[in-house]
Amino acid sequence: AMVRHYKFNVVMKNATRLCSTKPIVTVNGKFPGPTIYAREDDNVLIKVVNHVKYNVSIHWHGVKQLRTGWADGPAYITQCPIQPGQTYLYNFTLTGQRGTLWWHAHVLWLRATVHGAIVILPKLGVPYPFPKPHMEQVILLGEWWKSDTEAIINEALKSGLAPNTSDAHTINGHPGPVQGCASQGGFSLEVQPKNTYLLRIINAALNEELFFKIANHQLTVVEVDATYVKPFKTDTIVIAPGQTTNVLVTAKHKIGNFLVAASPFMDAPIVVDNKTATATLHYSGTLGSSLTTLTSLPPTNATSVANTFTDSLRSLNSKKFPAKVPLKIDHNLLFTVSLGVNPCATCVNNSRVVADINNVTFVMPKIALLQAHFFKIKGVFTDDFPGNPPVVYNFTGSQVTNLATTKGTRLYRLAYNSTVQLVLQDTGMLTPENHPIHLHGFNFFVVGRGQGNFDSKKDVKKFNLVDPVERNTVGVPAGGWTAIRFKADNPGVWFMHCHLEIHTTWGLKMAFVVDNGKGPNESLLPPPSDLPKC
Ligand code: C2O
Repeated sequence: AMVRHYKFNVVMKNATRLCSTKPIVTVNGKFPGPTIYAREDDNVLIKVVNHVKYNVSIHWHGVKQLRTGWADGPAYITQCPIQPGQTYLYNFTLTGQRGTLWWHAHVLWLRATVHGAIVILPKLGVPYPFPKPHMEQVILLGEWWKSDTEAIINEALKSGLAPNTSDAHTINGHPGPVQGCASQGGFSLEVQPKNTYLLRIINAALNEELFFKIANHQLTVVEVDATYVKPFKTDTIVIAPGQTTNVLVTAKHKIGNFLVAASPFMDAPIVVDNKTATATLHYSGTLGSSLTTLTSLPPTNATSVANTFTDSLRSLNSKKFPAKVPLKIDHNLLFTVSLGVNPCATCVNNSRVVADINNVTFVMPKIALLQAHFFKIKGVFTDDFPGNPPVVYNFTGSQVTNLATTKGTRLYRLAYNSTVQLVLQDTGMLTPENHPIHLHGFNFFVVGRGQGNFDSKKDVKKFNLVDPVERNTVGVPAGGWTAIRFKADNPGVWFMHCHLEIHTTWGLKMAFVVDNGKGPNESLLPPPSDLPKC
């Protein structure tokens, strides 16, 4: 294994999109940010220097951070943010991990522009469990606002209402030509006929699940969230914020330009958003710019297209890559995820939209939870997070009368190596919505998924305990449930939240605290000396 050094200078930079220019927060002046390359088991050292006026922290999304929670990154969870002018060295090892992950800012709404890919190759000499591609390409999907994203979220928090949706979606930083700004270029991927390409697709959008499609080309899915899956062919992939999907695509035509598109998927009746980002798959040697467009793009509410894709995902579960699904369960949990409404005297309508897990709207602490845990500082959090919903939930499509939530910085405590089954139930208190839930510090197995209320007798019998897909971010279907299993083999404090940034902001988040084990390599390492102070 090698040591990989990176330096991230967080700096402002002017960027022009949709024919207008604004200053954005970037890493090294790039949007999207630089790609981190490494191999399985490498040690990665990233020195982050904050040159902007905001507090900064960076999360390495999907990196397990075995015993190194101090390098995980979520502000006020595992570290205090890096203040303006300050520096922090993130130091972690990619133990047993390979595939596509990504990094992003984990404070305020900075991740809108502060994000990039992490490409972890297998160990030297170890092949992929699928045909070797001729070339690889990172495809980062994102969102673009014409105005300042910090101003947008601050305005929304003041009013208590939902923030403005973005003005465009992007593929590798560019929306492609759109109405009112037809002149702008888009991302173009040049391919050679007959060659096969590995696309490492990442959804870095703040608030949108996306469909992704290439005209006249099939995609073979081989990996999600840096875990290998049984390969399958599809025209369309669906990808939630936080998720990564690797696909193989073969340049089976001789010549031509083919449209690449990313468009929103929203399994909810409230927001209609149909902005499509476009790019081009360009066969080398093609003269002229005539473009083969898509005959169809799934409509925004194409739940059946999304379900077909999601239901096709299975762990590779080969001899080399077995699916180690926990079979004996120590903690049997059911968390409801929903949106609610709390009173707010200064807000429009005297109320504010909030979000919660088991009716608790998470309150961010003033000092990092991991510090409070390690140094045994009292009064920062409690470990009484409810393992079951406090009230009888019922998803019938009708609203419940009391939409108010409680508030608290409550954690759920897990013994080292204990096993967890967690059913995530969308209750649709305010409105049903698909919530992509991300767990830090672990991969989990998605053992079941269904519509309506989870039935602890019937549904458990249908769980897939053989080859369920393994990932770090999973969608809870609108008005339905998803069941996951994981083993708490990583001591520390681990954030879990909806990866729709607005839902995180509104409080759809909590954390697990995993105690040290008794063995020599079973405890959280001590903090580095340059750990930022609050
Ligand atoms: Cu990718 Cu806590 O986030």
